[in-house]
Amino acid sequence: MKKVFIKSYGCQMNVYDAERMADVLAAEGYGQTGSVENADLVVLNTCHIREKAAEKVYSELGRIRVMKEERALEGRETKVVLAGCVAQAEGREIFRRAPVVDVVVGPQSYQNLPALLRAGRGALDTEFPADDKFDALPALEPARIKSRGVTAFLTVQEGCDKFCTFCVVPYTRGAEVSRSVARILDEAHRLADAGVREITLIGQNVNAFHGEGPDGSPWSLGRLLHALAEVPGIARLRYTTSHPRDMDEELIAAHRDLPALMPYLHLPVQAGSDRILAAMNRRHTADEYRRIIDRVRTARPDVALTSDFIVGFPGESDADFEATMRLVEDVRFAGAFSFKYSPRPGTPAADSADQVPEAVKSERLARLQERLEAHRQAFNHGTVGRTLDVLLEKAGRHPGQLAGKTPYLQMVQIDGAGRAVGDIVPVRIGAAGSNSLFGEAPAADGTWTEASAA
Ligand code: 5AD
Ligand code: SF4
Repeated sequence: MKKVFIKSYGCQMNVYDAERMADVLAAEGYGQTGSVENADLVVLNTCHIREKAAEKVYSELGRIRVMKEERALEGRETKVVLAGCVAQAEGREIFRRAPVVDVVVGPQSYQNLPALLRAGRGALDTEFPADDKFDALPALEPARIKSRGVTAFLTVQEGCDKFCTFCVVPYTRGAEVSRSVARILDEAHRLADAGVREITLIGQNVNAFHGEGPDGSPWSLGRLLHALAEVPGIARLRYTTSHPRDMDEELIAAHRDLPALMPYLHLPVQAGSDRILAAMNRRHTADEYRRIIDRVRTARPDVALTSDFIVGFPGESDADFEATMRLVEDVRFAGAFSFKYSPRPGTPAADSADQVPEAVKSERLARLQERLEAHRQAFNHGTVGRTLDVLLEKAGRHPGQLAGKTPYLQMVQIDGAGRAVGDIVPVRIGAAGSNSLFGEAPAADGTWTEASAA
């Protein structure tokens, strides 16, 4: 059997797309392998969001070129596909920069992978077809779903119309498109029937979801979540990534009314200065963000909030950065991703004259990350002593242990005796390490056994 190795960079959307590509290629007789050495076909599913992410791909392609050449000497063929957002952004240029690549395919064209592979060297597809690309992909097979575990991503929306001035997404993923409610429910049923317990709805702008409902009218994400909560077997729902402008009343109310919707919200704010937020074209102020957070916390007081930050956006002064630090102290996030601004070709901010020096960016990032990390640790320590439901997902760190997630997406290790992956068990949190919590779950006989942190 021919083997494919798929490596994904970047966001959850790419993780989901990689699974769909694996499904298409399975239908073509490719089995999956976890090591590039065994692969006849190598697919790099790339990310273009920051320069570092995009550059990583070219160094990986350098290594693959050596391997491909060595094999060619032995008369063995290796095909290389460049997929994802770098493919979309750079197109034909990739063949020039990296002749090792045989096929270039953008995120909206994965259904055409078999035809592109047959066409061979130099084949490219970076179109944005009008139809739902997922319709053209093979339906999810129970055995393939099972092999991927008890949690799953489900794409409900793709693309973005917001045009933040730093961001490539509107160019790489195209205009905002929502899938229909019927298709999403169908996929959710397939996942649940194959043993999935937790679904994370994904989209570049997931809370802008407005897919067509069975009645022909557009449904909001809040309404969709209510329908998904009714799918038998699905115990937990999450969604990511959201924009503050689209946190509507129905979605906030779902955090109050829907027990299946986990108390967790990733809501990128990027910066705390109104001047910078305006220059980023975020179309909200820092105080408007604070008020949204207040409303979400009123609906669901224990909600874990996480965010994304960019430091050193063009024109960011010391005072602007201090405003970001104040916002961080006000909200106290349970976790966050933070980045130095990276100018991306074709985006408005990249051409701005007042770029911030690299050294200033580094200094600001270090200061910001120190506070974000302190708040993350404080959040985790705050759960010690509480009993939280944990969905067991996989084998734990040590033999006999199982690992799972709390409602707040914290990883927990417990003693696995008498438990199975897919179970949701109450766990008394005993200790918080830097990346994992340790807890005790009641044994079948009702006694509590503690997982060792050693
Ligand atoms: N530079 C740095 N960070 C960026 N992000 C998006 N574009 C850029 C950029 N040009 C960050 C944002 C976004 C996250 C996915 O990546 O914080 O929310
Ligand atoms: Fe990266 Fe954005 Fe593409 Fe995801 S959608 S892979 S974050 S560029």
